[in-house]
This record gives sequence, C-alpha cells and structure tokens, in this order.
Amino acid sequence: MRALSKVPLMKWCNSLARLVSRFNPGWVGGEKLDRYTSNRLPLKGDCQPGHVYLVGAGSGDVELLTLKAARLLGQADAVVYDRLVGDDVLALIPRGTERHYVGKASGHHSMPQAEIGALMVTLARSGKSVVRLKGGDPAIFGRMGEELDALAAAHVPATIVPGITAASSAAACMGIPLTDRGHAQQLRFVTAQLCREDGTPDWSALARRDETLVFYMGLSKVEAICAGLRDAGLPDDWPIMLVANASQPDQQSLVGTLADMPLQLAASPLPSPCVIMVGSVVTRVATSPAALDIHNAAY
Ligand SMILES: C[S@@+](CC[C@H](N)C(=O)[O-])C[C@H]1O[C@@H](n2cnc3c(N)ncnc32)[C@H](O)[C@@H]1O
Repeated sequence: MRALSKVPLMKWCNSLARLVSRFNPGWVGGEKLDRYTSNRLPLKGDCQPGHVYLVGAGSGDVELLTLKAARLLGQADAVVYDRLVGDDVLALIPRGTERHYVGKASGHHSMPQAEIGALMVTLARSGKSVVRLKGGDPAIFGRMGEELDALAAAHVPATIVPGITAASSAAACMGIPLTDRGHAQQLRFVTAQLCREDGTPDWSALARRDETLVFYMGLSKVEAICAGLRDAGLPDDWPIMLVANASQPDQQSLVGTLADMPLQLAASPLPSPCVIMVGSVVTRVATSPAALDIHNAAY
C-alpha cells in the first residue's frame, strides 16, 4: 500500500482538530483549553512587593478579564476591590490573600477616597504586593487619578493594567460597533453626574448627529438626558439604548427614542449598573444577530 504523503496527512489532521474544536469548545487544536493556555500563552512576571497594581476587572464576565489581571490576582498579597467587581472575578483570588472591600454604592461612600489611598500606601509600605481591582477600566470614571496621586505622594510605585470598559462590553453584547463609519465619526464617554434638569452640561455640544455618546452613572438621569438633547436640537426619534449588567447573565436592555425612553424606563425599570448609548448607531441593534441572541437569553 502506498504511504500517505506527509503534507496531505498534516492538512487532514488540522481539519480534524478544527472540526473537533467546533463541536467541543474545550478542545483547541487537539489539546484541552487549560493545557493550551498554560503552555502557549506568555504569562510571565511576578507581583512586586511594595508595588500597587491598578487593575481593570472588566464589566462582569470573568472571561473579559485580561490575562495580566488574572495573573496578578493569583500572585498578589492583598487585593483592594470595588462594588462593581464580579463574583466570578473575586473567586480567582486565592484563599489566604488579604481582601479589602472599599466599594461605594451610589450616595453611600463606604470608604472615603483619601482612606482608600492611605490603605494602599500602608499595605505597600508593609512590603505587600497590592492589586487595586476596579470594575471595567480603572482609568474610565474610576477615580484612578486620585489614587495615583496618593501613591506618588508616598513614593509607592504603581502600574496600570487596563480593563474592558462598560461601553465596549455593552456595545459588544448588543452587537453594535460604537464607531460604525456610516453612523459615527466620534465617540464620547460622558459622566451623567453632571446631567441635571438645570442644563449643567453643554447640551448643544453633545447634541451631534455624527457621534455616539455613552453616558456612565446615568440611570437616574435618563429624563434629563433625553430632554437636554431634544432641547438642543436632536429629533424626538433619535435612537437611545440602555444596557444594564452588560456582559452578565442578567443583562437587560431597552432600545427606543429620546421621546419614548423615559416612559419605557418607567414602565420597565432597569437595575444598576447601566450605561446609556445615544446615536444613530443604535439602530443597528434591530438587525444584530448578537443582540438577538441576548434577547433570546442564549447568551
Ligand atoms: C463609577 S463608573 C465605573 C466605570 C468603569 N470604570 C468602567 O470602565 O466601566 C460606574 C458606571 O459604569 C457603568 N457600568 C459599569 N459596569 C457596568 C455593566 N456591567 N453594565 C452596564 N453599565 C456598567 C454604569 O454606568 C455605572 O454607573
């Protein structure tokens, strides 16, 4: 019998491996996923004593954590964490690691910012490696500036590890590209803490048709946001979407217009945390297979 040539045999093996991994996602290229990650991915480095790592925990789904964040969580002596860090992420912290909860609920500051800074300094000065774990990306509405200042004033070295911010996560889960070229040439992250009925934000600067706006911390300001943008010239039927608990199994969303969203929200209140997206790119949700999956609870 003629021997099989090596090249077609290899091609055949690769095709088989791809087929197997399609039907059994735990297998990649014929190897178990955990073996694959530990053998092939370049996880290196050690948590340094006396050092603080300001780490993004992503938006809730543990698989949205970066590899660097996962490694640091496994190595640190102490973890100082916030309210929006998901339970599955916290479950990665080994038993025996010191944990400090410093979370803040809206209007209830469980630990003042200055004390959080002082805690990190004390831990680092005692020779511990410290992970400061924050929801999403630590540099986006995360008060990271104050924490960096506190560490710098105490000469404590710090490293920033970015995370997946709520805007990216919510957009992905709803199947929309935030800067789709046919819809938005700009993208703006806005804190809704300034959005009051008295018109504090510059609504005319925000009311653009070539932009996607993402409001953080705005669930209680939806009415003011819709009114402000309409008064500044955006049409009543301008698209808006609310996404609560983005990337988590209990994700919920409302899609509507500036005119009808306050009523929709009153009829079907959403939980916190929630991001608000405004812009014509939101119209893509209607045709997005990713969004349909979510609505069918297949996520
Ligand atoms: C203090 S900010 C922190 C933002 C965080 N650093 C980030 O990058 O996502 C908290 C706000 O982020 C948004 N947020 C955080 N996680 C979210 C999630 N899983 N789903 C929807 N919104 C979220 C909400 O607007 C919430 O009020």
